[in-house]
Amino acid sequence: MDLAEDESVDAPIGIFDSGFGGLTVARAAVDLMPNEDIVYLGDTDRAPYGEKTIAQVREYALQCLDRLVAHGVKALLIACNTASSAVLRDARERYEVPVIDVITPAARRAPLATRNGRIGVICTEATARSRSYDDALAAVPGITLTTQACPRFVDFVENGVTSGPELEQVAREYLAPIQEAGCDTLILGCTHYPLLAGLVSYVLGDGVTLISSSEECARASYSTLRREGILHTEAREPSRYFLTTGNAERFERLGRRLMEGFVHDVHSVGVAESPLGDHAVVRG
Ligand code: DGL
Repeated sequence: MDLAEDESVDAPIGIFDSGFGGLTVARAAVDLMPNEDIVYLGDTDRAPYGEKTIAQVREYALQCLDRLVAHGVKALLIACNTASSAVLRDARERYEVPVIDVITPAARRAPLATRNGRIGVICTEATARSRSYDDALAAVPGITLTTQACPRFVDFVENGVTSGPELEQVAREYLAPIQEAGCDTLILGCTHYPLLAGLVSYVLGDGVTLISSSEECARASYSTLRREGILHTEAREPSRYFLTTGNAERFERLGRRLMEGFVHDVHSVGVAESPLGDHAVVRG
C-alpha cells in the first residue's frame, strides 16, 4: 500500500513520544480535532530520550515512526521536542504523510507573545545541546533566547509527581536563570512540561507568558490536516488507542492518575529494528 495514494481521511493520526509527555499533545489534538482516530506510541521502555545522544534518539525515533506508519496513519505528530530536534528532516524525507513537529509551531508563536524580546525555553539536555530552538528563532530579529535544560522534570512526571516541595525546589533552581535573564515568555520545550505548567506559572508569576509546544503542535496539526484535505469534519465516534514499549498497566495507571479517563486501551508493543535502510521511503 502506498500511503501517498491511500492517504485517506479515515486513517488515524499517529502520535509519538519517548513516553508519557506526548499525551499532552494527544489531548490537545483531541480537543481541537475530536473526530479523529488516534494511535499513540510512547517509547517508555527506552525513555528518557533527553539524556541520550541525538544520534541515538534519531535511531529510536525512526523505529517508532516506522511502526506508526505501518498502521497506515494519515499524518505523524512528533510529540517530543527531543525527537523533533533529532529527526524532523529525516522523517519528512522518509515518509509520504505529513509530519508535524513540536518545535516549529512553538518557535513561531513565542515571538508573537513576547513584549520585551526575551524568550526562554526549558527543555531536555539533548534538545538544549541540539540548539534547535536557536535555529528556529535565528531568523526573527530582536529576540534573545535563554535556554535551560531541566533534566529532572521528566522523571518527576513519569513518576506521576507534578507538585510538592521537592519538585518546587528543583523548579526554582531551574527557573532562576530564566528570571535573571528577564524573560517575559517561556516556551515549555518538552511535552512533559505542560503537566507542570501550574508549578512553573506559580514560580515565575503571571508576568511570564507560557507557550506550550504541545498546544502549538495541536493547532499546527489542525491547519496541516485541513490544508491537505484530510481533516474529519463530520461528527463521529473516533477510536483511540495507545501503544507503549513498556508496561501497559503502568502506562494506563499513570494515565488515569494524570489525565483522568483520557488514556485507555493500552497495549504493550515491541519496536523492531527497521528492516529498511536509513534513507528508504517507508510505505505502509
Ligand atoms: N517529552 C520529550 C520532549 O518533548 C522528552 C522526554 C524525555 O527525555 O524522554 O523532549
